[in-house]
Amino acid sequence: MVIAIQRALGDRIQVIQGDITTMAIDAIVNAANAAMLGGGGVDGAIHRAAGPELLGECRRIGGCPPGEARLTHGYRLPARYVIHTVGPLWRGGDEGEPDTLAACYLSSLAIAREQGFREVAFPAVATGVYGFPRGDAARIAVAVVSSELAANELPERVYFVCFDAATAEAYRRSLSTPG
Ligand code: APR
Repeated sequence: MVIAIQRALGDRIQVIQGDITTMAIDAIVNAANAAMLGGGGVDGAIHRAAGPELLGECRRIGGCPPGEARLTHGYRLPARYVIHTVGPLWRGGDEGEPDTLAACYLSSLAIAREQGFREVAFPAVATGVYGFPRGDAARIAVAVVSSELAANELPERVYFVCFDAATAEAYRRSLSTPG
């Protein structure tokens, strides 16, 4: 079933190796923490590129529970908006981590649809500091995004922007051999 969906999606899902802060699209997704006050990894890179106004807006939002997502402007980023989502801290996989990660993608895509965004880019949420195994995370991300795009016209395109080659390979493998 998922194979058929992905074939039908054509090029609506793309894997890129690079820096998500350079994407000039409607929205990039940030792998934030629940406090939404910045951090390392992609969170740090996005805050550095967006400038201090981003932190001000995040402070006013006041945080985000794992699995949910919040919208801010992109400020000095080439992306117009940032969708902040909070992945699960990996604790072995028996504490709901897979469902929480799936919820990150569902929540982020729901905001993208509500806002009418045509193009959205995701990092490999939870696979860095939070320790989610990259292959499992890629399978969850591809499965959720594939089914959501098959059921909705927006966003028209989703990019998985992977910072390193191994992550990009994991996403490409999941996209070509689902399940
Ligand atoms: N562009 C794209 N991807 C990036 C970039 C970037 N500029 N910088 C890092 N990444 C990748 C990492 O290599 C990893 O594959 O993003 C993925 C997610 O890793 P983290 O940024 O560590 O995010 P996560 O695992 O979800 O942990 C979130 O880390 O930075 C803190 O404040 C953040 O507490 C939160 C936690």
